[in-house]
Amino acid sequence: MNKQASNLDTIPVGKLTPDDAAAELARLAAEIAGADTAYYGKDAPEITDAQYDALRRRNLLIEKRFPKLKRADSPSGKVGAAPSAKFEKSKHAVAMLSLDNAFDDADVAEFDKRVRKFLGLAEDLEVAFTAEPKIDGLSLNLRYEKGILVQAATRGDGEVGENVTINALTIADIPERLKAAPDILEVRGEVYMSHDDFAALNQRLTHEAAEAEKQPELFANPRNAAAGSLRQLDAAITASRPLKFFAYAWGEVSEALGETQWEVLQGFKKLGFRINPLTKRCNSVAEMLAHYADIEQQRASLGYDIDGVVYKVDRLDYQARLGFVSRHPRWAIAHKFPAEKATTVLEDIEIQVGRTGKLTPVARLKPVTVGGVVVANATLHNADEIERKDVRVGDTVVIQRAGDVIPQVVEVVTSKRKKGARKFKFPDCCPVCGSHAINEVNPVSGKPDVDRRCTGGLICPAQAVERLKHFVSRQAFDIEGLGERQIASFFEQKIITEPADIFTLRQRQEAGEINLYTYKNKKDGDIYLDKEGKPVATNRKSIENLFDGIDARREIASARFINALGIRHVGETNARLFASNYGDVAAFYDAAVKARATESEAYQDMLSIDGIGALVAQGVIDFFSEDHNRAAVDRLLAEVTPQRAQVANTTSPIAGKTVVFTGTLETMTRDEAKARAQSFGAKVSGSISAKTDYLVAGPGAGSKLKKAEDLGVKVLTEEEWADMVG
Ligand code: IVH
Repeated sequence: MNKQASNLDTIPVGKLTPDDAAAELARLAAEIAGADTAYYGKDAPEITDAQYDALRRRNLLIEKRFPKLKRADSPSGKVGAAPSAKFEKSKHAVAMLSLDNAFDDADVAEFDKRVRKFLGLAEDLEVAFTAEPKIDGLSLNLRYEKGILVQAATRGDGEVGENVTINALTIADIPERLKAAPDILEVRGEVYMSHDDFAALNQRLTHEAAEAEKQPELFANPRNAAAGSLRQLDAAITASRPLKFFAYAWGEVSEALGETQWEVLQGFKKLGFRINPLTKRCNSVAEMLAHYADIEQQRASLGYDIDGVVYKVDRLDYQARLGFVSRHPRWAIAHKFPAEKATTVLEDIEIQVGRTGKLTPVARLKPVTVGGVVVANATLHNADEIERKDVRVGDTVVIQRAGDVIPQVVEVVTSKRKKGARKFKFPDCCPVCGSHAINEVNPVSGKPDVDRRCTGGLICPAQAVERLKHFVSRQAFDIEGLGERQIASFFEQKIITEPADIFTLRQRQEAGEINLYTYKNKKDGDIYLDKEGKPVATNRKSIENLFDGIDARREIASARFINALGIRHVGETNARLFASNYGDVAAFYDAAVKARATESEAYQDMLSIDGIGALVAQGVIDFFSEDHNRAAVDRLLAEVTPQRAQVANTTSPIAGKTVVFTGTLETMTRDEAKARAQSFGAKVSGSISAKTDYLVAGPGAGSKLKKAEDLGVKVLTEEEWADMVG
């Protein structure tokens, strides 16, 4: 590597003279080319990925500042010299969660009430909230260490995102260096594109396509344009797209920037970030709603997309006490704008069969644009809904779309109904396997379910393939290179018919039982399809990548494993509850089998898990009562190793212990006590059993106290409990 004697490389890009910049670009081009040769040509990298990224980043920044100096051999323009085929993954130091939604004024009032109830605050006490627009873009975590941007990562699945540092650095609103920032500071916010820039981009793409005599590939809306532009392997493309950034939250910080949400936002502003000018501090629900109305009024003239207003409890000590419930903070909520509506023709009603056999009617529509998105399908939920709205094929219907929710049919424009339009007859057989479809009786309430279900179970291919799709979905196994389309293709060819088959692919390939190198799918040609469903060459490398992606999941979190099984009523949240309460899959499995006898201790234990009711327990029991389900799980367990659930705080004396609260608590509300106990890794139960470790009893404790004494369970006063938790 031809490192020059000068120390130009230490001068910040902002301080380079044009002459220096030209010299730096020459040096960087040579160094990057050298590194590329070492990496690709000789397979012997001489510098680390981080050093390589830093070189490319600096090159790009200089080119951005001095566009005229860009060299003919610029590394940023080189195709195929990207550091990797895809983005490197990066685990967030603090998970990036999502927000719960409020759809009307009552939901907002309810939110305020919940916050007060949790914290035990009087109704007349003033609680401040910030209110700011919810930007419709994509969120980004910016990590600064000692004031230098060291990493930018997308949200990903909330735990692990994609490293897009180089791309983020091309965004003018994102500072490369911060003055007087804490040692570690993670700033979070939204990357978005303005309406004008979006229109200009699509126009440019149309123009470029016309010159190349190709069909233009345009973006449907500014959000897609922002996401597509940021997630470019060639950061030079990102640099050519005008992206913007608003800061509104944070992740890991070594030192707090303030005591309130508001103060932190002001701190961001001082550091050089843009915060949304419509952010306001409100002291009551009435003020929040007034600000919402104000923002809604300005919505059309803002010049960028927003889809609601986010309210956040202002005091950070309150935020800390409120904490999180599954994927949402208790201290914030997104008040969505009313859904956008459009009128179109319903061309057909199709029945889809889900993984649990549920038959869902889907309206096939004449495509129509609703709020910038083309809608061709809408859900009709179930037979009752079709009956109630009297939806018929050929009708003109009003549809609506709110944020990322599936579009819905609101009503029929009956005045436009054609003569002879017939009522829809909901099938009583599964359209895929032909088995009877029935409205099951709810085992707990004894009432028939509104949903009709296929009774085909294992023989129904629709259920089987949907279960597999669920198995590999993002919150379950999330296997790189194995998405819905690939699953459908593999299933069609009987290469994967149950989860364990995924993990024997490599072995079967090596043993010559299957040959994925020549594997073709009848319908689409190659199995490897890109996001748009276009075939991608099936070659050795992509098959190897798939095998690697699968192997990377041979060790998996117990909660993901349980969620992946697709047990009725057990989604992400309940799977997590089971994983943390039983510790691992083996214990959960064992308990589920034993719980079949409702008089058993195992059944009582399951029901005593805070948040698990009879319906969920029944779903688990039914699943594990089936021989074929147990056999499928056993085969899967022979291939993958679920990891023991992580106890939140292993150093706490209550980690892993089972606690029951009873009587009146004096220093905090029952909700807060439970949430705190859980955050220290304890399991909170609603009833006393031999497995209970502690009963925290306040004044007024009755039967639970007696039972605890009978069973010899340790009883603590609230004060003793507080001392223990610390
Ligand atoms: S606060 C713990 N504030 O909405 C949650 N989010 O549904 C912290 N978003 O992933 C997020 N504008 O991408 C927050 N002013 C705002 C926002 C905002 C847009 C997005 C963000 C997040 C999603 C949550």
